[in-house]
Amino acid sequence: MSAAKKLKVVAQPPKVDLYELLFSEANDAILLVDQDSGKILSANQRLQELTGFVRQDLGQVKALFPDAKAPLTQKVRSALFSEEMLNHSGFYEDMALLRKDGYLAFATLSVKTLTAEKTGGQNLAFCILHDMGAKKSMERDLLAKHWELKSAYEELERAHLELKSAQEALVQAGKLAALGELAAGVAHELNQPLAGIMGFAQELERLLKEKFQDPTALDFSGEIVKNSVRMKKIIQQLREFTRKSVEDFQDVGVPSVITESRKLLDQQFRSRGIEVQVNAEANLPTIYCNPFQLEQVFINLFTNARDAIEAGERGSGRITIDLRRKTSDPKRFLEVAFRDDGCGMNSETKNRLFDPFFTTKEVGKGTGLGLSVSYGILSKINGSMLVESAPGKGTSFLLTLPVDYRTLNAHDPQKEG
Ligand SMILES: Nc1ncnc2c1ncn2[C@@H]1O[C@H](COP(=O)(O)OP(=O)(O)O)[C@@H](O)[C@H]1O
Ligand SMILES: [Mg+2]
Repeated sequence: MSAAKKLKVVAQPPKVDLYELLFSEANDAILLVDQDSGKILSANQRLQELTGFVRQDLGQVKALFPDAKAPLTQKVRSALFSEEMLNHSGFYEDMALLRKDGYLAFATLSVKTLTAEKTGGQNLAFCILHDMGAKKSMERDLLAKHWELKSAYEELERAHLELKSAQEALVQAGKLAALGELAAGVAHELNQPLAGIMGFAQELERLLKEKFQDPTALDFSGEIVKNSVRMKKIIQQLREFTRKSVEDFQDVGVPSVITESRKLLDQQFRSRGIEVQVNAEANLPTIYCNPFQLEQVFINLFTNARDAIEAGERGSGRITIDLRRKTSDPKRFLEVAFRDDGCGMNSETKNRLFDPFFTTKEVGKGTGLGLSVSYGILSKINGSMLVESAPGKGTSFLLTLPVDYRTLNAHDPQKEG
């Protein structure tokens, strides 16, 4: 009997209003707004948790919107207040709310408009604000992680490029070392017999001129002399390249080296209509090197530019040299941009142009040693040389010259003997 009584008590309807409970305890903020005046008629507890405001603080619903000019907010405002919204069945919008403490809260707003017919007199907007703070901060974290990953990736890529160019430099250095050994031997062995050939050839030429006056024989001997001179030039270049001596090292002004090397070719430039323009920054520091070797580098660059311009379509052209401090390290390095508007080169030539004996020039014209020797000379002082070129687009060499390689705490050619 008593058990039945208890059961009956449990089954009794609760004393609270379930709809009221639904409203006040909802997990989202619920507002009832008068559409004509914008006044908040009713709001639940969640509004305070979300914004810090209670209904009485707010009065007007627009107090929740941080910036009336922001497009999102304007859309919401007009939705809440405009006449045409009266027939609107509702919408969803992500938006920022102004909290009582001045910070922003992020929420999704859903509005349902209730016409006067339905409510019996008032046009109402029934608004639900769903807290999006957690989602937003997750989004921000994700975005931050994304940028972290991206910059890590970029760093990897940079490191990869650096490694690649270091590897290329090593390969080049290896080739040069091999060439150096070979060249030193060959140059030494050939020098003696060549001196003999040249001496006899010149003597023969003199005899032919004086005694026989045979033009064909004279032509032949002339060829022997010419070719011997050419061989001597190659041997000289090889010896220059393999010479490790640094006794001639001194502080050298780069503009004067450029002027000196240019002088040797000026006559040819003039007769071929090639203009040379040198732009040097004022008060450049000197660099510590062997001036004759540096001159060799510029002679090679001038000669190549001359040939490239001649091989180009116009046959006349311009060489431009810009000399300045290196922007990223102005105290320790100079930079030389050496450009011509000649024929340019394809990628195959570009890949091989520092290789010893690589030449695209006809037999008798190129030795293929100019750039490999120049590369070697610059490497000795921790300098470098890069090339940019495309067929028909001219060529530009970018040289980096250390002001004093001894202060770069890398290898010291003086000590290598
Ligand atoms: N300024 C340039 N324009 C176009 N091609 C060039 C230029 N400089 C060098 N080259 C290319 O690089 C090759 C190698 O140059 P180099 O080592 O000086 O040897 P060489 O001039 O004796 O051929 C040249 O044969 C040419 O194909
Ligand atoms: Mg050359």
